[in-house]
Amino acid sequence: MAKRVLRVLAGEAVWPPPVWLMRQAGRYLPEYRALRAEAGDFLKLCLNPGMAAEITLQPLRRFGMDAAILFSDLPIVSYGLGQALRYAEGAGPVLPPIRTAADLDALSISGVADKVAPVWETVRRVAADIGDATLIGFSGAPFTVACYMVEGHGSREFVAARGMAYTDPALFARLIDLIVDANLVYLRGQADAGAEVLMLFDSWAGMLPPDEFRTWVIEPTARIAAALQQSHPHVPLIGFPRLAGTMLGEYARGAGMQGVAIDTAMKPEAAADMVPPQIALQGNLDPLALVAGGAPMRRATTKILDALRGRPHIFNLGHGIVPQTAPEHVGALVEQIRAA
Ligand code: CP3
Repeated sequence: MAKRVLRVLAGEAVWPPPVWLMRQAGRYLPEYRALRAEAGDFLKLCLNPGMAAEITLQPLRRFGMDAAILFSDLPIVSYGLGQALRYAEGAGPVLPPIRTAADLDALSISGVADKVAPVWETVRRVAADIGDATLIGFSGAPFTVACYMVEGHGSREFVAARGMAYTDPALFARLIDLIVDANLVYLRGQADAGAEVLMLFDSWAGMLPPDEFRTWVIEPTARIAAALQQSHPHVPLIGFPRLAGTMLGEYARGAGMQGVAIDTAMKPEAAADMVPPQIALQGNLDPLALVAGGAPMRRATTKILDALRGRPHIFNLGHGIVPQTAPEHVGALVEQIRAA
């Protein structure tokens, strides 16, 4: 019998749905904070296979989710291309911004495999230890990775990145192409190391108007999907075009994903209407409902379960777990879904 997450991604409506949570490994868990303190630096943690494998499995040991997501981070692929990456304490990734052709020329695909090799080793170790759960590998989708590479840090607006897409679309396209190629190396290595599913996070996709969304989100994602379909036809893909809104249907039909993750703002019934029925939906509980716990969390969870019942669905949040979440609430959520 195939694993539950894989059955759903093959188009089966499994009831109750399998469950895992974005950022299920992270600062809300004391056992994560302990290893994080031991490593000192977040990037070191991501590149330490022993520690990263342990962190990947921590939430499964506590709560028994149906899947573990590789513990790593989104700009690792930029790091692979040779862009310096560091983490400012309490903030996110910081990189020297790519603004000119010369900045872009300094990056190279040739170093990716060596640089990301520790992450592949993490995948290998988790795969050996994961049992009945499913191991999900991931990377950032090209547009969202480009946002960080051009801006140089997290932002609410990513004005430099979105601006480059208009003022120098040829340069922006070259950057996107490079990220597509780097992602193919990175994701194929994850699949070869034992990742059973691959997920592409496009956290900033929702900032783009429809034409730009097609050009910078759907098209490059579809190229990655087509190439992976050639080399790894048995590894299903989940895409997360966060805040795609009315573009969700086009994304689902055009990006080549077997599963589509939906954010908290998306009405699940609307997603079910827009997305072809054989494509799985994943989502979309508000992480703040998980912080609240109790009746508000139970009500919100029931609504999502009811709305997506009868179609392939993987229960998840609409965005990552926030650090102030009580671990017991995660346990209660998993129990509620199992008892549905
Ligand atoms: O459990 C998991 O989900 C697996 C690991 C994972 C992390 N980041 C660990 C992490 C995954 C899948 C990501 C994806 C990621 N990273 C995204 C896409 C999803 C999303 O949230 O939209 C993005 C945009 C990033 C970039 C990033 N990394 C930011 C903006 C930050 C700072 C915000 C924060 O939560 O601290 C990070 C750091 C980060 N990535 C942490 C973790 C556990 C916290 C680092 C720490 O321990 O100090």
